[in-house]
Amino acid sequence: MSSARGTASEAAGGAASGDGGARTERLSKVYGTGPTAVRALDGVSVTLPGGRFTAIMGPSGAGKSTLMHCVAGLDAPTSGRVFVGGVDLGALPDAKLTRMRRERIGFVFQAFNLLPTLTARDNVLLPTTLAGTRPDQQWFDTVVRTLGLGDRLGHRPAELSGGQQQRVALARALITRPEIVFADEPTGNLDSRTGAEVLALLRRSVDDLGQTVAMVTHDPAAAAHADSVIYLADGRIVDVMDAPTPDRVLDRMRSLGGAA
Ligand SMILES: Nc1ncnc2c1ncn2[C@@H]1O[C@H](COP(=O)(O)OP(=O)(O)O)[C@@H](O)[C@H]1O
Ligand SMILES: [Mg+2]
Repeated sequence: MSSARGTASEAAGGAASGDGGARTERLSKVYGTGPTAVRALDGVSVTLPGGRFTAIMGPSGAGKSTLMHCVAGLDAPTSGRVFVGGVDLGALPDAKLTRMRRERIGFVFQAFNLLPTLTARDNVLLPTTLAGTRPDQQWFDTVVRTLGLGDRLGHRPAELSGGQQQRVALARALITRPEIVFADEPTGNLDSRTGAEVLALLRRSVDDLGQTVAMVTHDPAAAAHADSVIYLADGRIVDVMDAPTPDRVLDRMRSLGGAA
């Protein structure tokens, strides 16, 4: 329970510039006002450590997506702070926040979200195209090789299987060497074998490429690929598990009352 908070407080004390990954301090998010207000996040202090793979679990409505969106700079918290790679997102002017999102934060969505008219290569390179920067050819080759996409680069998404499309989406997320990659149910649209491949590649992006990954999932087997699992309920962190296994995750979900 206390391990991630311990890490969070160490990071808060260390707060060195360039500390990898992301962290939050007493993050709260309230949607709406008055009697219908919803407190989606209620004082969440958590570290998503650099070079590690963290899974986020919890019942529907627990605040998982809100947490991701706030840490990714897509949504502004009501109070509290978010640091990505040591940078306080709340202190950034809009233009810098947009650049930060584009260049230092990667996303992988359940629905892949590739551009249908672009080849796999151009989809992967899209973040650098948008940023007007030159892609690092060596890194591009490394990512493409690691994800096994070498012979698919000329294909459009419609010519790729679901698993291949998700590998392209993962490559696109990795191409800028972001501080952190967020994956929201990345295997939700894949069959279990293809899903397992994508999870193994997320794992590899952490182990071989040194990336930081935070993944929302409902699936204990998916969560077991992570280094640790954060459990959210009612906008709070209710538990943290290191070295998860599918059985331990399932047990914990049952004891926390979260539906699988
Ligand atoms: N844009 C929004 N406006 C109002 N309420 C919202 C909005 N987004 C999420 N919520 C509410 O915030 C709570 C947490 O939602 P969410 O973060 O999507 O949970 P999860 O991803 O864990 O299912 C829920 O009660 C949800 O209804
Ligand atoms: Mg959600």
